[in-house]
Amino acid sequence: MTYFPQTPDYTGLNTPIGVEYDLADLTVHGTIPADVEGTFFRAVPDPAFAPFMEDGGAILSADGMISAIRFAGGTVSAAMRFVQTARHKAEMAAGHALFGKYRNPYTDKPEAAGVDRTVANTTPIWHAGRLLLAKEDGRPYRVDPRTLETLGSYDFGGKLKSETSTAHARIDPVSGELFMFGYEADGLGSTKISYFIIDSQGNLVREQWFDAPYCAMMHDFVITENYVLFPIYPTTCDAERVKAGGDHWVHDMERESWVGVMPRYGDVSEMRWYKGPKGVSCYHMLNAHEDGAGNILFDQCLSNVNAFPFIQKASGLNIAPQDSGGRLARWIINLAEGADSITEVVIGPPGDFPIIPADRQGRPFSHGWMLTMNPDMQGPPVAGGPVGAMFNMLLRLDFTGQPVQALPLPPAHCYNEPVHVPSAQTGHDGWLVTLVDRQDGPDAFAHEIWIIEASALGKGPVARVEIPQRMRPQVHGWWVSAAQLAAAL
Ligand SMILES: [Fe+2]
Repeated sequence: MTYFPQTPDYTGLNTPIGVEYDLADLTVHGTIPADVEGTFFRAVPDPAFAPFMEDGGAILSADGMISAIRFAGGTVSAAMRFVQTARHKAEMAAGHALFGKYRNPYTDKPEAAGVDRTVANTTPIWHAGRLLLAKEDGRPYRVDPRTLETLGSYDFGGKLKSETSTAHARIDPVSGELFMFGYEADGLGSTKISYFIIDSQGNLVREQWFDAPYCAMMHDFVITENYVLFPIYPTTCDAERVKAGGDHWVHDMERESWVGVMPRYGDVSEMRWYKGPKGVSCYHMLNAHEDGAGNILFDQCLSNVNAFPFIQKASGLNIAPQDSGGRLARWIINLAEGADSITEVVIGPPGDFPIIPADRQGRPFSHGWMLTMNPDMQGPPVAGGPVGAMFNMLLRLDFTGQPVQALPLPPAHCYNEPVHVPSAQTGHDGWLVTLVDRQDGPDAFAHEIWIIEASALGKGPVARVEIPQRMRPQVHGWWVSAAQLAAAL
């Protein structure tokens, strides 16, 4: 029996579950649309063992579990497995935690030496018939999409040189290429960034390295039709601090942000650096596109400080979410010769987990969806996740002048990140599939998958699926259609 600290990271909705299961024939209320035929893969961090040292960042090091919610002919099943990372296997063999602070191997137990520290807990990525489970501090793990069996650490057939690979990859909707990068590509505190392209058949065809202005947490990035953008915000790592047993990340309010811009098939020597505002932070980006007038429009969930409480603590900061200046920001990047600055306009409310239809990636787009807090909410938000509060309102943002749509949840309910499922019907906006948690008591939760018409949020869910198992908060998900799954390698 493992006893976890009775802190917000390990209690309530965040209580570790660690149960692997297969549940068939789940109870469905309403009718599942014919378009929703396939699997909703979800990455769920869930620590198998309690941390052996105090570390607020440990919540980000929880073992990755892969959840598969499968829709087939109107029936739904659910399965959950640990990703059998080298780290998870080593700790299971030891019977206790071996790894210390978040991204600090100098705090590990001696038995952890030489073991890959990544936990594959952030994003399921589907590309070229393969399912990868990614986390930014290492290479991804490949998982069998049918059985959820872990197939091992994945280096694209021995071709990837980078030691790290982002959890936020971008797939070009026309070419089918997968664009990825890794930061701290050759070790702790390094400024080396790898940028690599995988063709539509899954072959890594190009990898280049460049130096960032400083070592920073680079959680996400964006592509356009012709460019790739590498945004850098001042949550920074200092190798000496890490070696001394300190925190990996400290947020520096006095340091500038930057965006590196280069032709996406170009050479890293063509990188142009644009200076952004000081102290800002962003985890997730909605999209970027070229406006036809010599600008790149880059849309992101931005705030004036890093949102993670443990990073603020390590930085001597204590800024509440409502005081952090959160907004959906559009950064206008002028490609004209000699230009090096960024202009910002606010295009949406505070929030996170922004998504767009996959066929608009890097292209002009009319709408997207994101999670936010209901400004008229009754009662407190559900406590949970790494930031400590879960979102309770889903938005459909429209950039063509149509009103914003919202689906607020009743009190004591919260959303996990939805996925968008396109419709086969021309002119239909498709569906959103998401996990909704309901708190019935301090330690009592119920969970349902909701299917929502993507252009008619106000109608509420067209179908709800009961999941008779406790679910820990998910990070990201990925929709894989039945046709894609049938072509799995
Ligand atoms: Fe993320």
